[in-house]
Amino acid sequence: MFGAWDPIPDDGYTAAKKAGVLEDRDVEPVSEFLRGITPMPAVFENHYVTRIHGSNVKKGKTKRELAEQLRQDIRDFKSNNGLDRLVIVWCAKTEIFIRPGAQHQTIEKFEQAMDANDEAIAPSMLYAWAALMEGVPFANGAPNLSVDAPALQHLALDRSVPISGKDFKTGQTWMKTVIAPALKARMLGLAGWYSTNILGNRDGEVLDDPASFKTKEESKLSVLHTILQPDVYPQLYRDFCHVVRINYYPPRGDNKEGWDNIDIVGWMNYPMQIKINFLCRDSILAAPIVLDLALFSDFAQRSGMKGIQEWLSFYYKSPMAAPGLQPEHDLFIQQTKLKNTLRHIMGEEQITHLGMEYYV
Ligand SMILES: NC(=O)c1ccc[n+]([C@@H]2O[C@H](COP(=O)([O-])OP(=O)(O)OC[C@H]3O[C@@H](n4cnc5c(N)ncnc54)[C@H](O)[C@@H]3O)[C@@H](O)[C@H]2O)c1
Repeated sequence: MFGAWDPIPDDGYTAAKKAGVLEDRDVEPVSEFLRGITPMPAVFENHYVTRIHGSNVKKGKTKRELAEQLRQDIRDFKSNNGLDRLVIVWCAKTEIFIRPGAQHQTIEKFEQAMDANDEAIAPSMLYAWAALMEGVPFANGAPNLSVDAPALQHLALDRSVPISGKDFKTGQTWMKTVIAPALKARMLGLAGWYSTNILGNRDGEVLDDPASFKTKEESKLSVLHTILQPDVYPQLYRDFCHVVRINYYPPRGDNKEGWDNIDIVGWMNYPMQIKINFLCRDSILAAPIVLDLALFSDFAQRSGMKGIQEWLSFYYKSPMAAPGLQPEHDLFIQQTKLKNTLRHIMGEEQITHLGMEYYV
């Protein structure tokens, strides 16, 4: 069973046709089902997301009042559909960059800020708060803070709810977290990594706005440093230049094209280059991640896990981790963590790849 909030009132069928990601042969057989998914009015403000003008928006005097309406929606959706458990995955627009402040540190301060209509409390945070108050696991597919704030992390622990984020790891960053571990494994140096994209979907349009791109850029830039560890290998990785660009180019629609130029340095300082030209489909890469996160977040809750689910970092560009812990970006370590956590939950042995038993 799927539900949604959206400031744009289109039902699932209309939205799928407008997005043009799927061919008619894939959409038409499920048209009735999709028409049945009509979005509930959203908590939405143009201050946080420019370039969208929707009519399906909630009204309320304070942010707390709006968040309480979201809680009511969650309760109604559950009871109207006879459901026992829910998961919420944030697949909405990237909001403007917000630096964590005092309002995000404790739940008392957070709730006071909701009452005071503080600008530091973005709609995505209200959805996260509402989900946690209703005991619903929350996964954040966008790079904006949302549930990645101490106040909401404490609330998740208090209410025994799993949370995870941020920003689905799909095209270029996914590639980065495959190639960078390979360079490090062979101790090849890095002089520079230039990444640029063209895309023409609504995500591209919003990211064309510098404030929203700033949020995305922070998320995209962090991965190389944590994988390559310049502090540990200063000769190889201390001074590399890393540039990321996203260009809105409508003719391409959802079919994104990414170019990477990687300047690497080999034995005796000989330079080499790697070029990657990835012609991907944004939503085709992202949709299975949404489904996996919904299933695994529910699985985590049923297994009694709560707070940050670091084992789900496999799916994210900016994985959330406990305070003081370095998030893991290397896709292969993330995958091992994912598999081992699932084995742990199922009471199976961990994968070590030791294989000694074959040679006794
Ligand atoms: N490959 C990918 O598609 C991919 C990868 C990584 C991250 N993301 C992130 O996922 C998010 C969704 O991407 P998309 O391509 O599906 O965008 P989209 O524009 O197609 O869909 C986003 C929807 O969110 C709605 N929305 C905006 N603000 C809202 C609010 N406050 N409440 C409810 N709905 C709201 C919009 O009206 C729109 O319908 C973006 O933040 C994007 O950066 C996508």
